[in-house]
Amino acid sequence: MNYNFDEIIDRNGTDSVKWDAVQGRWGRNDLIPMWVADMDFRTAPFVIEALKKRLDHEVLGYTFACKEWAESIVNWLKERHGWEIREEMLTFTPGIVRGLAFAIHCFTEKGDKVMVLPPVYHPFFLVTQKNEREVVFSPLVLKEGQYHIDFDRFRKDVQGCKLLILSNPHNPGGRVWTKEELSQIADICYESGTLVISDEIHADLTLPPYKHPAFALISEKARMNSLVFMSPSKAFNMPGLASSYTIIENDELRHRFQVYMEAGEFSEGHLFAYLSVAAAYSHGTEWLDQVIAYIKANIDFTENYLKEHIPAIRMIRPQASYLIFLDCRELGLNQKELNNLFVEDAHLALNEGTTFGKEGEGFMRLNIACPRATLEKALKQLEQAVNNR
Ligand SMILES: Cc1ncc(COP(=O)(O)O)c(C=O)c1O
Repeated sequence: MNYNFDEIIDRNGTDSVKWDAVQGRWGRNDLIPMWVADMDFRTAPFVIEALKKRLDHEVLGYTFACKEWAESIVNWLKERHGWEIREEMLTFTPGIVRGLAFAIHCFTEKGDKVMVLPPVYHPFFLVTQKNEREVVFSPLVLKEGQYHIDFDRFRKDVQGCKLLILSNPHNPGGRVWTKEELSQIADICYESGTLVISDEIHADLTLPPYKHPAFALISEKARMNSLVFMSPSKAFNMPGLASSYTIIENDELRHRFQVYMEAGEFSEGHLFAYLSVAAAYSHGTEWLDQVIAYIKANIDFTENYLKEHIPAIRMIRPQASYLIFLDCRELGLNQKELNNLFVEDAHLALNEGTTFGKEGEGFMRLNIACPRATLEKALKQLEQAVNNR
C-alpha cells in the first residue's frame, strides 16, 4: 500500500501546539509553523483504527495494559533494533520528558549534578534546573558539518555528575552516535559512577544507511548502567497520546525505578496509550519505511534548495529524524536580527538555536515533517527574505 504524505491537512483549530500556539507565541498567525517536533502527516492509520474500534465500545472504564503492549514492544525491539529484552524490563512512562523528570527524582537529590551535551533538546536542562539539580553543560563541537563529542572535555566535566542525559540520536543536530562513541561514553560514565539516561525517542526515524545503536546494547558497562527511554510517538506521529516506556536491564536500577514509579502510580498507563503502542508496533513496518523515505526526500530537497538558492544558510544534515539545524552564521546577523528575518520577513515559525543552549546562537531549527509543497513554499519565502535584506 502507498501512503500519501503530500496531502495538506488543516490542523488549525485542533489545539495543536505547533499550529494553534503560534498566535500566542509570536502574536500573529501568518507564519508557517515548522517548530514543535510533530509531523503534519496523518497519524499512522492502523493506530487511528485501533482507537476508533475501542471507542465504538462506548464504555471507557478502568483498564490494564493489553498483553499486546509488552509483546509488541519486545518484538519491535528485536526486529527493528536487534535488542532482545524481557517484558519485565519495561516500565510505562507517560511521555519521555516526564520519564526524565521521574528518573531525576529517583536517582538524584537536590543540588546533584546532571550533565547534558548542548546544543541539546532544551527540556533536558530545563527540567533538571526546575527540579533544583545543577546542570553541567559539556558542549559538543561542530566539525566538518556534524556535531562530535569532545571526549577530553567530557571526561573532565562528567566527574561528580550523578546522571548524563543523552539524546541518542541527537536533537537538534540529528547525529546518530557511532558504536565507538557510545562505547566511550559507557566506559567513562561507568568509571565516574554516572548513570546514563539515553533518550531514544527519535531512534525509529534513523535514516538509512545509518542504523540506530541502542545504548544498552553497546557493552556490558552500558547495559548495567543505563535507562533507555523509547516511544513510538515521533515515528508514528502520536505524541499527543503521551505514551512511552523505559527499558532497564540492570535488576537493581530497575527495581529502584519501578518502586519509585509505582509509589506515585506514575507507571499506570492509560487505555489509549497501551492500544496505540500495540497498534503502531504490530502493524507499523511498511508505513514507517515509507514515512522515512518521504522525510529523507524532504531533507534532500532542503539541502539542494539551500545550496542552489540560499548558500549563506548551511544545514547540518540529519542522520536521523526530521529536524534540521540550520547554520545561519554566514548571514552575519545577531540572534534578534536572525529571528526577525525568519518571522517578520520570511513568515516562518522555527525554533531559535539558542533555545538549545548558547552554543545554538546563529542557528535555527527547521522541522521538515510536512508535505513537500509546504516545505517548498517555506523555502521560497526564506529565499525571498534573504535576498531582500
Ligand atoms: C529528544 C527528545 N526527547 C523527548 C521529546 C518529547 O517527548 P515526550 O513528548 O514523550 O515527552 C522530544 C520531542 O521533541 C525530543 O526531541
